[in-house]
Formats: sequence, structure tokens, C-alpha cells
Amino acid sequence: MTIYARRRAAVARALKAAGGGVALLPTAPEQSRNRDSHFPYRHDSYFYYLTGFDEPESWLLIDASGKSTLLCRPKNLEREIWDGIRLGPKAAPAALGVDAAHSVEQLDQLMPQLLANQSALWFPFATHPGLESQIDGWLGQLRAKVRLGVICPQSQHDLCGVLDEMRLIKDRHEVAIMRRAGEIAAQAHVRAMRTSAAMLRAGQDAREYHLDAELLHEFRRHGSQFPAYTSIVAAGANACVLHYRAGAAPLKADELCLIDAGCELDGYASDITRTFPAGGRFSPAQRQLYDIVLEAQKAAIAATRPGKRFLDPHHAAVRVLAQGMLEVGLLDRKKHGRTEDVIESGAYRQFYMHRTGHWLGMDVHDCGDYTEPGTRAREEIDATGLAVMRRPSRVLRPGMVLTIEPGLYVRPAKGVPREFWNIGIRIEDDALVTDKGCELLTRGVPVQADEIEALMRG
Ligand code: GLY
Ligand code: MN
Ligand code: MN
Repeated sequence: MTIYARRRAAVARALKAAGGGVALLPTAPEQSRNRDSHFPYRHDSYFYYLTGFDEPESWLLIDASGKSTLLCRPKNLEREIWDGIRLGPKAAPAALGVDAAHSVEQLDQLMPQLLANQSALWFPFATHPGLESQIDGWLGQLRAKVRLGVICPQSQHDLCGVLDEMRLIKDRHEVAIMRRAGEIAAQAHVRAMRTSAAMLRAGQDAREYHLDAELLHEFRRHGSQFPAYTSIVAAGANACVLHYRAGAAPLKADELCLIDAGCELDGYASDITRTFPAGGRFSPAQRQLYDIVLEAQKAAIAATRPGKRFLDPHHAAVRVLAQGMLEVGLLDRKKHGRTEDVIESGAYRQFYMHRTGHWLGMDVHDCGDYTEPGTRAREEIDATGLAVMRRPSRVLRPGMVLTIEPGLYVRPAKGVPREFWNIGIRIEDDALVTDKGCELLTRGVPVQADEIEALMRG
């Protein structure tokens, strides 16, 4: 049995446990970019998780008895000359281990038949525009036959919940790919750091896009299919723009460069951020802030182990950052008090406004409930001071993968020491929760300031 067949069997068991029914899952559509040109095709993550199949226009059905049915593009010599080989329905059962396969050209005829006499229908809610109305059309046809004794599914359920729980805990196959994705991305960061220093040493006009090109080169030469998300290469003050892209700004030897970039390998993302001096040597002010962020990351890593909760690394990082802000004068003790007060008041958010991590997997911001299932919501005060009902955050378990990415972003402002203006720093690694703690998948690129300087000298 392949891993995909095992996962399909697990979905069937979940359906059975919930009273039966059939699950329906389309892959992602192709996206037009502009006339006659498409964005590179990327399958739907859920679909790929259950099939390992990456052709567009495909559908999967799994019923509670365990039977799986695929709909895919039919063989077509004319189209295959232009677009490439298609698996086709005849070869699909042997290639993918599904029980039956049909041409997707029969979608509208087959679907009412495949959904007939099922007690419930499971599909991913609010993820595929137009899917709900397609389903309504098929169920409408079934309802018209109820008088003939045909049963129409009586309930609809969100399939995402079942799949999200499965995807949250990575299996051995997934961990192996994610380790490799982490290694490749780390090598890409090393390459970008070296290029930055070498170009500036040679007196060349180094730009953000030069480093972006180095990242892409390293991703692709190791077989990664795409960047996992649009790479951020942010020179100097651009690092304070959280969703900056790689642009054309010049790298200056006395400024920092922040790179947030990861590759996608065989459907799995890596996600690394490093911040380094473009010319290879930290200034004292840059180093001071860098070491605070690094300490914050260390504290967060120590809080990433089974039994801790998803938000524990964040709280650990915030404590170190808040204390650091007071120590270096980003926050004035007279106005803001002690570390506890800064945490309580949220004053640290002026310089640290995001969370310390997210789930990572097939999607860079991967699926998975961030709160502990089966627990009761409690009233909490959110960042804006409003009362919200929240469940306690998720208890970490071996096999979960999350990022650990504290940062400091100093925009020019009154009362903020000038030496820190426009410095933006983030340090991000990918952590697999293990039995005893966590394994960092992305430490092939150095993180200590001295080690970064040594690498850039070399
Ligand atoms: N690169 C996306 C993130 O760090 O969340
Ligand atoms: Mn991230
Ligand atoms: Mn990132």
C-alpha cells in the first residue's frame, strides 16, 4: 500500500466513524496569467496529499467503505503533443492505486451517480470557488430522482477538518522531504550571503534582485520545483516592510539585508529568514539588536517541545524581546516600566508586531487547528484591547512542524535612538517537534553573528 492509499484509507475510516458518506475533492484549477500564458501549475495540497497526482482537472472520491475513484484528463494525442503526457483513466488504477478511474469529460454525467445513495457528502468548504454551486447542480439532479427510490445525501460536512488533522502530524515520508527542502533552502541562503559580500567587495552594483537570482539558482539546481512563496530580499529599511518582495534596491555595505525565502520540494515548503550585514560585518548597533533577536529565538526553541502549547514559543520570544527593548532604550523604562509591564501593555508591538511562528508543511502557512480541539473557549483580551473568546492554543506533539521566527523592526520615530532607525531583523528556522524537544531542519545556514561574518569573509 502506498502512503497515498494509506491516507485515503484513513479518510474512509474517519467518514465511517462519523456515520458514513462519500468525500469529494477537486485539485486546483490552472490559472491564466495573461493572454495564452499560464501561471506555473500548482496542484491542490489536499488532493496531492491523497493521490500524489499532479495533473490539473482531476477529482477524487473516497467512500466510507474505502473505495476510491479518480476522474482525470483522458488521453488525447493532439493535446499531449502541446502540453505533455497525460496519465489517462486506463492507467490510473495501476499507477495511483485507486479502485476506479474515469474521464473528467464525464464529470457532470458521473457525479450524480457517484453521489447517489450516500448518506452524507464531505467536501472542502470555501476553498474552491464555484464548487458549492456545482455540487448543488449534481444534488439537484439526484433530488429529482428521489421518487424513484434514489437517496440524496442528507448532510454536508467540511472535509478540511479531517484532512487538516492528518496533515498536522507529518509522517516519515513527509519529514524526509521537509528535511531536504530545509537543506536546499539553507544552501540558498548561504549562497546569497556569499554573493552579497563578494559583489560589494568587488565594488559591484549589488541589488536585491541579484540575491533573489542566487536563491532561485540554488533552489532549482537541487530539484526544487518553485520557491515556496515569493522571496523577500530586503535591503536596509525595506526590511521593516513585513511583506516586501525582492526589488531593485541597492545593497549597501553598512546596512543589513533580510532574506525570507524557502523552496518547495515535491509539494513541501521550507521557510527560512536570515538577516546579515550586506558587506559582511555587523555594526555595533546592528549586532546589539541581532543578538536580542537571536536570544529570543533561542528561548522560543527551548519552548518548542511536546506538551508545550503552540503559543509558548511566542510568549518566550516576546519576553526576551521586551526585555531587550528596555535594555537598549528602544522603550524608555521611565515610560514603559519593567519587562512585565511592556508585555502587559503590548508596548513591544511597536517593534515586534507578528506571531513567532506558524504550522509548516505542504503550504507555507500550513493547515491545522491552532487551538486545542475539545477544549472550551475562554475570554481573552486581544491586541486591540477587545474581549474575544479563545480556546487554549494547541498542545505540541511529535511530528508537528512549525516555524520559529522572532524579529525586531525599528521604524524612525520620536524617542527611538537614531542608531537603530531602519534596522529590520528576523531570524527564522523550521522546527520538527520530536519526542524530547525539536529538531531544526534549516540550520545548514549559520545563525550566530560571528559565524555569519566568517562565512561572508570566506
Ligand atoms: N515567509 C512567510 C512567513 O514567514 O510566514
Ligand atoms: Mn514563516
Ligand atoms: Mn518566512
